[in-house]
Amino acid sequence: MGPIKRLAVNTGGGDSPGLNATIRAVVLSSVQYGYEVLGIRRGFGGLLDDDAVQPLNHESVRGITHLGGTILGTTNKGNPFEWPTGDGGTRDRSGELLEAFQRHKLDALISIGGDGSLRIAQRLSELGLPVVGVPKTIDNDLAATELTFGFHTAVQTATEALDKLHSTAESHERVFVVEVMGRSTGWIALRSGMAATADVILIPEIPYDLGKVCAKIESRYERGRRFAIVVAAEGALPQGGEAWYKEGAKAGTAARYGGVAERLAAQISECTGYESRSLVLGHLQRGGTPVAYDRFIALRFGAAAVRTVAEGKFGTMVALNNDAMAPVPLSEAVSRIKTVDPSCDTVWTAKASGIAFGD
Ligand code: F6P
Repeated sequence: MGPIKRLAVNTGGGDSPGLNATIRAVVLSSVQYGYEVLGIRRGFGGLLDDDAVQPLNHESVRGITHLGGTILGTTNKGNPFEWPTGDGGTRDRSGELLEAFQRHKLDALISIGGDGSLRIAQRLSELGLPVVGVPKTIDNDLAATELTFGFHTAVQTATEALDKLHSTAESHERVFVVEVMGRSTGWIALRSGMAATADVILIPEIPYDLGKVCAKIESRYERGRRFAIVVAAEGALPQGGEAWYKEGAKAGTAARYGGVAERLAAQISECTGYESRSLVLGHLQRGGTPVAYDRFIALRFGAAAVRTVAEGKFGTMVALNNDAMAPVPLSEAVSRIKTVDPSCDTVWTAKASGIAFGD
């Protein structure tokens, strides 16, 4: 492989606050190495579509560090290995993508994505594409990295929402069940629930017993605290039961969760007799301005990815551990997710402060 002259960057999967800061750092760090940068719009698929490739320079990334979303656009439907044919089927366009990479005279790709996009990056890397991944998910569920940007912003958004619900819950003497994102992990629920002093936190890692959830709420009302806040991760599930999925969307990494809060509010109302309401925070948690810490690590992730390209360490993902950025093999990065350990000191601290998990 010759010297690197030209690299491309794309963003894939669900957006995460801090993506623009990462893109900015990729572009500005590349300038330091004398690399030209092309931005690929709409995930991997943009490479198949010549008008979705655009040069990026200092001017293109001016003033974007604090902006949510991604200037490159993103999609969950850009998998070149399973490209939708329009009649419900899929076809493999990975060969075309590799050809497009050559046609644009690219020497490397920096792919910013969550587990789905990183899996695609890994498969492309096995086909010979020189790629470096940057982890991105508000769920913070990638095991190879201590933290992903966007997580702190999502926790902040959820915490502010829970804070606001306190006054209306108290005024109406109601139970509020709030559903937060996180797929099969409870990181956002745990952190926001603790920060906003919820009464009950339900996470997939600790299946709940409805009777215990109701008993906790009843004991509160009996003590005169006649309202309750329950935070449920979208993937929370009852003991011996299943999580709630959106209809027809139960398969693997494409599974779409949803419905646990509405279901729980109805069950709590039935078993306690207290008026209950549900709220789904949904994509609010992914939108808007990244908090300072997410901007800061996003910039570091972007710069680390360019350094990793310069070192020729392809087939890797940059990871943040012990405050240091280092590449890990993509195969390792996508092999397992990071879940909440029910016996960790965070859960212990929450329980010690009176928060119930329904176990
Ligand atoms: O993985 C990030 C995430 O925001 C999850 O927390 C959530 O389940 C999912 O994406 C939602 O995806 P979509 O944007 O396709 O609805």
